[in-house]
Amino acid sequence: MLFLSSTDPASEITEMLVIPVCEDKDLNDSLVIASTVQRVRGFKEFTGAKGDEAVLYDPSQVKAQRIMFIGLGKSESVSPESLRAMAGRATAQGMQRKLSAISLLVPTGDGIDADMADMLKAMLEGACLRNHLFDRYKTQKDSKPLKRINFLIKPAVARKYKALPARVSAVCQGTLLARNWVNTPSNDKKPAAFARTIARLAKKEGLKTTVLGKKELKQKKFGAILAVAEGSSSAPGMVIVDYHPRGAKKTAALVGKGVTFDSGGLNLKTTKTINLMKVDMAGAAAVAATVLASARLKLNLRVIGILPLVENMISGKATRPGDIIRSYSGKTIEIGNTDAEGRLILIDALSYAVQRYKPGILIDMATLTGACVMALGEGYAGVFSNDDELAAGITQSGEKTGERCWRMPLPDDYKDLIKSELADINNMPRSRWGGAITAALFLEEFVGQTHWAHIDIAGPAYRKKGNDYCGPGGTGFGVRLLCDFLSRI
Ligand code: BES
Ligand code: MN
Ligand code: ZN
Repeated sequence: MLFLSSTDPASEITEMLVIPVCEDKDLNDSLVIASTVQRVRGFKEFTGAKGDEAVLYDPSQVKAQRIMFIGLGKSESVSPESLRAMAGRATAQGMQRKLSAISLLVPTGDGIDADMADMLKAMLEGACLRNHLFDRYKTQKDSKPLKRINFLIKPAVARKYKALPARVSAVCQGTLLARNWVNTPSNDKKPAAFARTIARLAKKEGLKTTVLGKKELKQKKFGAILAVAEGSSSAPGMVIVDYHPRGAKKTAALVGKGVTFDSGGLNLKTTKTINLMKVDMAGAAAVAATVLASARLKLNLRVIGILPLVENMISGKATRPGDIIRSYSGKTIEIGNTDAEGRLILIDALSYAVQRYKPGILIDMATLTGACVMALGEGYAGVFSNDDELAAGITQSGEKTGERCWRMPLPDDYKDLIKSELADINNMPRSRWGGAITAALFLEEFVGQTHWAHIDIAGPAYRKKGNDYCGPGGTGFGVRLLCDFLSRI
């Protein structure tokens, strides 16, 4: 779907040629293109300011049926993120017009303060990520993804980066997969069904895949996962996908929260907060998609995805506030609140990861707390870690990919807030303040000395309104972040 092409832009035969334009500089060295840019700059409504768009039909001297100009703003403000957005917009415009292919002119890089590899990668990503629809439940499908997106680039550059489209596509297909999973309604992704889907794809990728059902979870004493699942008529499960390339020296274990629906349990959520709770498996979706992408990318480390899958529901059998349960680690937990279920399933998976695999790096990703959304809004994930280097690596990947992360503290003295009078620990903090932190501190109790990071994605996992390279709904947040991070360690 993504192609690099070194055809001269004026001779490119296409339904739509897309030309990014800056306010203050020309971004390419073709004379014909420069003269069309000159023409469009003559229109009052187009100055090249960020967000400007203009279309020329049947342009002279150019073979394209139409040219779409997209403003990038001042050249100094051009960044991978703005190019990602531009390419996403171009793709959306192509789909809206029901085209089957578009060609994007890649800036030469002269007037821009960004590396060619970063620019090209960002444009490929933006296009690939926007070229997607979730219309599985629509009887009438009104538009289709583009079949072909060409990136016009100098021959030497095309040669140098010829492997890039496939790599970008491997990662972005992961993001799209995670989005589809999040968008799927909870009635169609009960734990067993979700587990089957993951296992099917993992096997296709040649990964060692294990699915533990309720019976095995009981045998192995995953008490916390079982306690959360108790109120649901759908059985819980745990999927383990293991990408283990020959010669791998490092091991990263990734744990993803997979609550396929979070009603809150007996501490039932309100109408306002319950409505979105099909999103509560976004961590598991991102982790599963990341392991699949790691295999596609042939990363040279072992990546193990561990996905506890449950539905948090209500029934006569549901776990009650005040109940005390025994987790996989052996530690007992007082259930102060049945809506703090994410940390329960995570600690069983984390303890298992530590005990079974002794990973060099352990990362969990979870839509864990509303408090994290309060703290950082919907544009940032919260990162908590017992390891400065690991935290820095993740936030750097966030900057590179545009999946932004902000490190949060793990203060020792806050641990008082999750003490229990009766059990080893309480899943409900005593104070309502700092809820993202107390949740992370709860997890930390179960990772021992392992280099660990927790990424709270409750904010960025979902967006009601789309943006330039993501439609409304699940965002697939975390896949590009983790793939970038794993490919750099
Ligand atoms: N799944 C929710 C967190 C959440 C909130 C995800 C908003 C996505 C968007 C989680 O299980 C939860 O209910 N957390 C509680 C914890 C509290 C009971 C300690 C919360 O954040 O209120
Ligand atoms: Mn909850
Ligand atoms: Zn939850």
